[in-house]
Amino acid sequence: MPTPNEILNELKKIKYPGFTRDIVSFGLIKDIEVGHAGVTVFLGAVSANPEVVGTVTDEVKRTVGAMPGVTKVEVQVEAAPPRPAPAHSGRRSIPGVRHVIAVASGKGGVGKSTVAVNLALAMQALGRRIGLMDADVYGPSVAMMMGVDQNVTVSPERRIIPLQRYGVRYVSMALFVNDQTPVIWRGPMVTKLETEFLFNVEWGDLDCLVLDLPPGTGDAQLTITQRVALAGGVIVTTPQEVALLDVKRGVAMFNEVRTPVLGVIENMSYYVCRRCERRHAIFGHGGGARMAAELNLPLLGELPIAPEIRAGGDHARPLVAVSPEHPASREFKAIAERIFERLARLPKPLAEILQ
Ligand SMILES: Nc1ncnc2c1ncn2[C@@H]1O[C@H](COP(=O)(O)OP(=O)(O)O)[C@@H](O)[C@H]1O
Ligand SMILES: [Mg+2]
Repeated sequence: MPTPNEILNELKKIKYPGFTRDIVSFGLIKDIEVGHAGVTVFLGAVSANPEVVGTVTDEVKRTVGAMPGVTKVEVQVEAAPPRPAPAHSGRRSIPGVRHVIAVASGKGGVGKSTVAVNLALAMQALGRRIGLMDADVYGPSVAMMMGVDQNVTVSPERRIIPLQRYGVRYVSMALFVNDQTPVIWRGPMVTKLETEFLFNVEWGDLDCLVLDLPPGTGDAQLTITQRVALAGGVIVTTPQEVALLDVKRGVAMFNEVRTPVLGVIENMSYYVCRRCERRHAIFGHGGGARMAAELNLPLLGELPIAPEIRAGGDHARPLVAVSPEHPASREFKAIAERIFERLARLPKPLAEILQ
């Protein structure tokens, strides 16, 4: 009979389905018992997907069974938390979370994260319970804007406890990623992991969870929007005419996953000159309104270019939290109200219809 260590070494040859990483380095092997009757391998919660559990179990049996002297192999798998939504719909709602909204943009740099953070804070200021998830692993700007530098803790049930800032519960997978993080975390697999991650957060009761999607409308964004039962999408854009195409792409993405677009937010709409107090339309004016009309979407609001907005982001003092009476903060609150109105008017959670 081989020793547990020899068995462990053999198990390193098994890759986690869909990954280049092996099941040992994933921390899946909890214990190995070698007895007269045979070998028992104890696995941690492999996946909520029974197919993945089956594949891993079979591979372990085959690999260990092929070792000289092994007559019998038994595999015991820790039960994963049950999936709340039916498997065929593919989109799961998050227990305790009433609405999930995704903030998207056609490209980076339009202020999507800034808007997501301040919008979450504005919703919170309306007396709602709000969560914020940074789904942009490569541009973890939300952590900086929110000023979270603590380590994330995990409950005894191995669920992630969100951090809390300014009354908003916040989490990001980026808080677990550093320079030494294996390459796998930088591949397209990340979004898949991220969605799992989202469901493993102990959100508690939330009226709304705001997702700051990665910039763009490609596969990564689709993966998330396909798996989470979204109440609606919000598109952030800037007033330039060229942005119309980006918004169209955002709308197409939400259409593809049958998620209603709650509306468009035009960021960096205008600049209020300190001396003359007049509005200057730096990137042209009315682009957002025109495109909203053309696409038959509500324009949820127009936000100014304000040095205070940028400074708030840079210094972890988001405008809505530190200057709630600033005109831009009031606009954020008006946008938050419009979003809640739209959410209340949605016929039924779409996830239920799709089931
Ligand atoms: N309305 C605004 N006024 C001034 N600066 C802004 C505004 N919106 C965003 N910014 C700044 O623009 C930069 C990009 O914003 P960010 O939210 O990171 O964009 P994205 O998430 O779309 O890539 C940041 O430095 C941010 O502080
Ligand atoms: Mg961003």
